[in-house]
Amino acid sequence: MKQTINVLLENIIRQAFNQALIPADYPILLTEATKAEFGDYQANGVMKAAKLLGKNPRDLAALVIELIDKQDIIEKLEVAGPGFINVTLADAFLASFVEQLNSDNNYGVNYLNHDKQTVVVDYSSPNLAKEMHVGHLRSTVIGDALYRILSYMGDRVIRQNHVGDWGTQFGMLIAYMQELNGGNEHQEFTAELSDLEEFYRKAKTRYDTDEEFQKRARHCVVVLQNSQEYGEEGQQVYRYWQDFTQISLTHCLQIYAQLGALLTAHDVAPESMYNKELPAVIESLERQQLLTLSDGAKCIFFGAEEQLATSDTPFIVQKQDGGFLYATTDLAALNYRCHVLNASRLIYVVDARQSLHFKQLFSVAKQASFAKADTELQHIEFGTMMAEDGKPFKTRTGGTVKLIDLINEAQKRALNVASSKNSDLDDNAKQQLATTLAIAAIKYADLSKNRSSDYIFSFDKMLSFDGNTAPYLLYAYTRIKSLLTKVSELGLDLNSQANNQIILVEAIEHRLALTLARFSDSIAITAKECYPHYLCQYLYNLSGVFMQFYENCAVIKESNSQLVNSRLLLVKKVGEILATGLNLLGITTVNRM
Ligand code: ARG
Repeated sequence: MKQTINVLLENIIRQAFNQALIPADYPILLTEATKAEFGDYQANGVMKAAKLLGKNPRDLAALVIELIDKQDIIEKLEVAGPGFINVTLADAFLASFVEQLNSDNNYGVNYLNHDKQTVVVDYSSPNLAKEMHVGHLRSTVIGDALYRILSYMGDRVIRQNHVGDWGTQFGMLIAYMQELNGGNEHQEFTAELSDLEEFYRKAKTRYDTDEEFQKRARHCVVVLQNSQEYGEEGQQVYRYWQDFTQISLTHCLQIYAQLGALLTAHDVAPESMYNKELPAVIESLERQQLLTLSDGAKCIFFGAEEQLATSDTPFIVQKQDGGFLYATTDLAALNYRCHVLNASRLIYVVDARQSLHFKQLFSVAKQASFAKADTELQHIEFGTMMAEDGKPFKTRTGGTVKLIDLINEAQKRALNVASSKNSDLDDNAKQQLATTLAIAAIKYADLSKNRSSDYIFSFDKMLSFDGNTAPYLLYAYTRIKSLLTKVSELGLDLNSQANNQIILVEAIEHRLALTLARFSDSIAITAKECYPHYLCQYLYNLSGVFMQFYENCAVIKESNSQLVNSRLLLVKKVGEILATGLNLLGITTVNRM
């Protein structure tokens, strides 16, 4: 079984550690070298080991180096600083490693000894009472990338769009629909509902200013949630609710299509889907004696040992009036994912502000055995999207920015960029390029930042060709494409077996091959920690190294024909891996720009 570079090196160095009598649980701490003069990798674990064993770190490092079996993999080893080990890989090894990377082995990703599992990714999950706004962008974009990456690694990944379609807000919206309808027979609301945001605002104003309306709205919630018992009225309320959520969902699906997100109607697993399960959730918790009554509400309290941020805040699963909550639904959904979908890993891509909710949810799920002890439950949290002034993103009048408006604005700006760069394209082609560029820019700007932090949204920065941006990467890709087009026009054959040999001569070629060889390890770390910015950083780095290579090494003009072939092969692999990586982020490449 082939292995990735990280695993190969870990194994080789571990053997030497063993022979040097360093205990097996002492980490090797293998990292990519931060500077070319330190070689390709660094193993930093010796220093800690030396300290624990009471030895001189440089001496121990020298011993380890002596014991390392370099095979034909490692070219050079040296002790650096207080006891680091610098590792440089052999050119011939790197060359043959890269020669073998192709689509059949997912460019080395199949070398990862990855235990394939069923994973549920809960993402996007907007509330349907309103239109999607900028707050839903991050979950949609990050979740989609994670879905693609995990699938690429061979997991069976299931998308779940846990849309909020059952909250008390629907009472207000239905009451408003009834009012507009003036007690008539069921009626269509297509026009009024073309702007859901506006509709919501109007309903809310009615709710806030009229007590009678408020009463009716609350009544509608009760009728909706028990529609069977309310005969004709129940049917009517239910139909209004259906109309509303259908229209709202259609809006969402349009946005997904525009964003090129994979979510479809098939992935929608709404809150309402779990209604029937909620009493059983409570019963089960009750049976297991996990519930405490507090002010009439059924709650779970956490002991100090839970180490929850605010352990005195209970997890409330049923209100005094019998109503269920967000938490109850999430327990039912979790149970469904573990027991019906048979997932062993659940990933929730949700705003960091819900962090306490998820800590508590996961804790209760394990206590109540809704999840198995070894089921991985992960809240993949993300920070808030800020405007350039560092404040939360808002419209001029202080409202939330609709996602559709943001996309439209990005497309308008991208059209300017596309037009200035490609004045010879016809309008249609420009528009098409602008659309791709805008979506790529929006997604990449988000994915390339550490998701845990808040991030500043800037149209100018994300559409810039400088720095770690989508336009920069897409541009690098077009350079490769146009070179390869030229090659095929010249009739240089890239696919024959005889030409399938890479020779690394220049230092930058070594670096380029090394970077290509690292693709699989970068995917592995991205998938493990669900941090898409690792993959972005990798692709940015790959593009940068490629640009350097391209400036320093003649490709077509090189006189040695073997070297021409080798370099073309490298360029081709860069193109393939770059496109593969971008696609895993949900970004479509363009062939010219
Ligand atoms: N609808 C929720 C919101 O907009 C997010 C749901 C996230 N998923 C979940 N299973 N709780 O805040």
